[in-house]
Amino acid sequence: MEQKRKKRPTPYIIHDEYFHKAKRQGYRARSAFKLLELQEKYALIKPGMKVCDVGRAPGSFLQVIRKTIWKDWLIVWIDLKDIDKLNYDNVFTLKHDIYEFETLKPRVDAIIWEGKLFDLITSDIAPNTTGRADVDQYASVELNIWIVKFADVFLKKWWNLVLKVFIWEDFNDLLKEIKKSYKKLNVYKPFACRDRSPEEYVICWDKIN
Ligand SMILES: C[S@@+](CC[C@H](N)C(=O)[O-])C[C@H]1O[C@@H](n2cnc3c(N)ncnc32)[C@H](O)[C@@H]1O
Repeated sequence: MEQKRKKRPTPYIIHDEYFHKAKRQGYRARSAFKLLELQEKYALIKPGMKVCDVGRAPGSFLQVIRKTIWKDWLIVWIDLKDIDKLNYDNVFTLKHDIYEFETLKPRVDAIIWEGKLFDLITSDIAPNTTGRADVDQYASVELNIWIVKFADVFLKKWWNLVLKVFIWEDFNDLLKEIKKSYKKLNVYKPFACRDRSPEEYVICWDKIN
């Protein structure tokens, strides 16, 4: 009987072309190229915006955002981890858990001033992975549901939210939440994402309320 040849998994190359490109161009991580591609495709970031970037260590998304918004801008970073300081004006770092909304809210309010909201919220958040696809993907969906809740409070009406999510069967739980608050969405996997990674980006357009 003819035997089927097993397909070999793609090898995991840590220092791939995007790693070297990031080094050459002075970005802190290869993920910069994911946001650069999203920006080229969707023109999400505009000069003068107030942006909140969630899950931002080591800071390559911030480097990309800052390049574009240069004038009268404000960026608020939120992450569990400490970061190596980037000496930019108007960048505020909040070391905080996105799940701890009650204590996070007054800290964000104090920076953007009550009543003023963000023009764009980006998130590249990722859970600590366990290696079990079902567990990791559900953790990613859960984190993103909290970011949608955060954006319900802090994103301006008619403006946009960018999420990174590990897509699998629980993705529908997140879609339900997004559809309550946004007019439309796109799901896109930039070329800089590794083929074997389940991560994709969801662009949520035009917040309804
Ligand atoms: C893939 S990294 C982000 C990379 C970043 N966008 C960049 O370009 O440098 C994901 C981040 O999500 C953060 N994170 C995970 N769970 C979090 C939580 N509950 N609250 C806040 N940040 C969290 C991690 O600490 C980590 O820094």
